[in-house]
Amino acid sequence: MVGRDGDVAATAATGADGAADRIIRAEGVVKTYDTGTSKVQALRGVDFAVERGEMVAVMGPSGCGKTTLLNCLSGLDQVDAGTIWLEGQDLAKLSDRARTDYRARRMGFIFQVYNLLPVLNAVENVELPLLVSGVRPKAARVKAEEALATVGLQEWARHRPAGLSGGQRQRVTIARALVNEPAIVWGDEPTGALDSKTANELMELLRTLNERQGLTLVLVTHDAGVGDRCDRIVRMRDGQVVGQTGHRLAVPAGVATG
Ligand SMILES: Nc1ncnc2c1ncn2[C@@H]1O[C@H](COP(=O)(O)OP(=O)(O)O)[C@@H](O)[C@H]1O
Ligand SMILES: [Mg+2]
Repeated sequence: MVGRDGDVAATAATGADGAADRIIRAEGVVKTYDTGTSKVQALRGVDFAVERGEMVAVMGPSGCGKTTLLNCLSGLDQVDAGTIWLEGQDLAKLSDRARTDYRARRMGFIFQVYNLLPVLNAVENVELPLLVSGVRPKAARVKAEEALATVGLQEWARHRPAGLSGGQRQRVTIARALVNEPAIVWGDEPTGALDSKTANELMELLRTLNERQGLTLVLVTHDAGVGDRCDRIVRMRDGQVVGQTGHRLAVPAGVATG
């Protein structure tokens, strides 16, 4: 029970909302898209929470609101109602600039589309977020090389995206997502462009990073293979959370099961 007691103590120390172990918390999140001619209620009151170090999949049919949820939780998009706290901080209370800065310092993103710049080689793509946030070029290069080594691509640092396989490109995006040593990594269909074997290897890698570095991962996907590798699956339908499954529901991490 050591881990649990520790968590409880930490929660008490940080106050009311359990910020210490709930790295992500959302309550009553509503998001409506208004295209002028029609309104789509993409999120209809979503409650959601993730513990630090958890690896969670958000699953559900196409159009159920997964990407919208990820965009709202990560502060890429603004909600119409409800509250989102990240590391205890109410996102809506941050200025645009502070929110952008928070994202750059504390978050990494992995999308289905790799979003790599074709004219830059792997290490240049990985170091870009650091350069943008003002890290000196030499330090950025060292960190980018380390991140590439973490995903097993040190030999490919000087290759441009066109000279890499789909799986290698996705690993470059993972290195880029990790290079700022984020607290949370968000993935939107991270295996969407990969064949099943490569997708498996990718999930293996994310699992290892989660276990070794205590990284919190939220992966939005309709790939059951992704859900199987996570601690918990949150299921969505029509803009709502309709259920969840997972072994960490019953047995929190750190508790010996004997
Ligand atoms: N920018 C947008 N403008 C209007 N409607 C949108 C926009 N983005 C998403 N939607 C709609 O919101 C709903 C949820 O979409 P999305 O979050 O992308 O679902 P998922 O990622 O689960 O496939 C869908 O009905 C979609 O058509
Ligand atoms: Mg989507």
